[in-house]
Amino acid sequence: MTATPESEPHRHEHPASGPSHDARDPAVAPASAAVWSASVLENVPIARDTYRLRLAAPGLAKFIRPGQFAMVRPGPEGASDPLLGRPFALYDVVLDGAGEPAAVDLVYLVVGRGTGALAGRRPGERLSVWGPLGNGFGAPPRGDVVFVAGGLGQTPFLALGRWWMGRMAYGGERIARPISAAPLMLYGVRSEPLLAGLDDFRSAGIAVEVATDDGSAGHHGYVTDLLAARLERGPLPARVIGCGPAPMLAALSRLTSKYEVPCEVSLENHMACGFGACFSCVAPIRQPNGSADLRRVCVEGPIFPADAVDWSGMHGQ
Ligand SMILES: Cc1cc2nc3c(=O)[nH]c(=O)nc-3n(C[C@H](O)[C@H](O)[C@H](O)COP(=O)(O)OP(=O)(O)OC[C@H]3O[C@@H](n4cnc5c(N)ncnc54)[C@H](O)[C@@H]3O)c2cc1C
Ligand code: FES
Repeated sequence: MTATPESEPHRHEHPASGPSHDARDPAVAPASAAVWSASVLENVPIARDTYRLRLAAPGLAKFIRPGQFAMVRPGPEGASDPLLGRPFALYDVVLDGAGEPAAVDLVYLVVGRGTGALAGRRPGERLSVWGPLGNGFGAPPRGDVVFVAGGLGQTPFLALGRWWMGRMAYGGERIARPISAAPLMLYGVRSEPLLAGLDDFRSAGIAVEVATDDGSAGHHGYVTDLLAARLERGPLPARVIGCGPAPMLAALSRLTSKYEVPCEVSLENHMACGFGACFSCVAPIRQPNGSADLRRVCVEGPIFPADAVDWSGMHGQ
């Protein structure tokens, strides 16, 4: 796959048209997915080892929706090392002076070679980016919403909160029946310096409660403790949405099923291609007949109902 100028995206071969998944076969990349040559506008630290990357990519910005992701090749365009792209959730879409989608923001934590190389990118450099990928979130429920984020799992929730509150359109769609109460985000990290983007969430109208493993900020303990206390106290939210490491999501799934609260999770399985070709991202997903079948997280996810995931088979993630 070769990157082309932003104005001339290379589209994946795909039978459907329009920005949504093919209704006949959910296991394909969205029809709007393309490879974009995106110019780096900013790549700035926002917390310890954590950066916000702003890419000029109007085509991607126009189509991408909350919960979808993009694959970013970490080296400058034309460099083949690292060869594989890395997946990052949409953090937000930036509008130009005319109110048109112009750029996308991604927030990433440096954990290895790819994200380390990405941290070295400078404004003006061009990167190969492909997306939008994945299913993304659907319409909001009627009632309260709680987001539960672990580690870098907060990244999908800024755009989702803004979208569901009716504050911004994404993928050309504005929510017809926005949620009436501001979402609450429960956000857990190992230590305070890793908290990223708190001001972004609060200024978007999303309430944030923090937990840290070492007690350096907020609740001393797991973020799921905060949710357990809230569910115990009531009233129960209409939906819980989680993003973070698989053990945290498994705990979330157990907790929400105990209180019979609908829960969706965004899985962060390792990915190589991002559009359904390599099967490196599979997760065990329960089928209507009760059996678990391996499904590609990049095309059928990353968003799944928590009770559809066979968490006993997710230990490698
Ligand atoms: C749909 C999706 C959305 C994501 N969104 C974000 C985001 O918004 N921000 C962000 O910082 N990260 C996000 N990630 C995770 C991110 O893609 C990985 O951290 C990144 O690919 C690591 O690349 P690397 O080359 O730096 O690390 P590697 O050198 O490949 O790995 C370094 C270490 O991190 C572990 N690792 C690598 N990938 C993952 C993963 N997916 N899950 C758990 N452990 C991993 C490896 O096992 C190893 O221990 C997302 C992943 C997915 C699938
Ligand atoms: S990452 Fe290749 S099939 Fe999902």
